[in-house]
Amino acid sequence: MSLKNQFGKKGWTPALMKSQKGKTFLITGATSGTGYEAARILLSKGATVVMLNRNPQKSEETIAAYKNEFGDNIDVSYITVDLGKQTSVKNAAAEILEKVTRIDALLCNGAIAQVPNQIVTEDGWESQLGVNYFGHFTLQALLYPLIEKSKGRIVTVGSMGYDMGLKTIKFDDLNWDKDYTANDAYSQSKLAQIMSIYELQNRLDKAGKKEVKAYACHPGSSRTSLISTSGSLLMKIIFGIMKLSPLTQPAKNGAYPELMCATEKDLDQTAFYGPTGRSNWVGPVGAHKLEPHAKDKIVAKKLWEISEKAIGLQWNL
Ligand SMILES: NC(=O)c1ccc[n+]([C@@H]2O[C@H](COP(=O)([O-])OP(=O)(O)OC[C@H]3O[C@@H](n4cnc5c(N)ncnc54)[C@H](OP(=O)(O)O)[C@@H]3O)[C@@H](O)[C@H]2O)c1
Repeated sequence: MSLKNQFGKKGWTPALMKSQKGKTFLITGATSGTGYEAARILLSKGATVVMLNRNPQKSEETIAAYKNEFGDNIDVSYITVDLGKQTSVKNAAAEILEKVTRIDALLCNGAIAQVPNQIVTEDGWESQLGVNYFGHFTLQALLYPLIEKSKGRIVTVGSMGYDMGLKTIKFDDLNWDKDYTANDAYSQSKLAQIMSIYELQNRLDKAGKKEVKAYACHPGSSRTSLISTSGSLLMKIIFGIMKLSPLTQPAKNGAYPELMCATEKDLDQTAFYGPTGRSNWVGPVGAHKLEPHAKDKIVAKKLWEISEKAIGLQWNL
């Protein structure tokens, strides 16, 4: 399926982004990669940015780097959150609701990937599922009331990995106790992130809430710290070689889809946004094909229900 890019041949770029003065964006994982670049571009457009990072020292260094580039008058701060710990996510959400008065978009960007061995979080989930999916699911649920009040957006950064694993949710063995592989577990976590966005759209629609928007996107194949942070030695070597090829793009370009979903007016919530070039790894940003398993309503509904139970919270939709 080829879709005509609504933004023309070059696709969406930040050149299309107007001033974001007066708008507040929350971004998970802004200390490196696409999150760092997304925050940087938003700051360059005058936005208020609240970074949700796990490492306070890296947060300070990131702020110093932005101030070095844009001067001391930029409006950037951070709140510490470890997405892999539900208590940390819940505490961070409480701090956000105390300190932040509006959320124009919550960019769910932070992640770990290709973790070579099964690690179980303190909440009892396989680490990629715990960090990438459950961490964000809880954050979204707790911040939803303020996002709704702000007529804001939830933007989930998925991955083409959604289509590279089992292509469904392994409900009878969510943590891969039986046959863990780094790729299958990562793919499931990214599929779960995307599926929950389309399920959220269904639920918003049923609740008659038209002013909150939820988008799913991905950064293609971008030169970031993702594999070097959590991948195996073999994956580091493979991605190290890939980084030298035209099959990857700079981290900055990888930030464009989430920035577009956070700020652009005329988007289609039901679409999947990312690079539209080779294998959807690189190229102009726009809507592109999504395989039907990502929108399987029965699986998505079940995933939502077990997720609310697992985190001990219900969305107030
Ligand atoms: N790069 C790609 O080619 C690619 C492809 C498909 C999808 N993606 C997706 O793109 C998004 C951004 O990744 P990236 O490529 O920019 O990787 P990255 O450079 O490694 O950035 C990931 C960010 O997430 C943060 N993070 C990791 N674990 C966390 C936790 N437990 N709590 C809070 N923050 C945490 C990291 O913090 P630290 O600095 O403390 O480690 C870092 O700021 C991810 O959702 C990823 O799945 C990337």
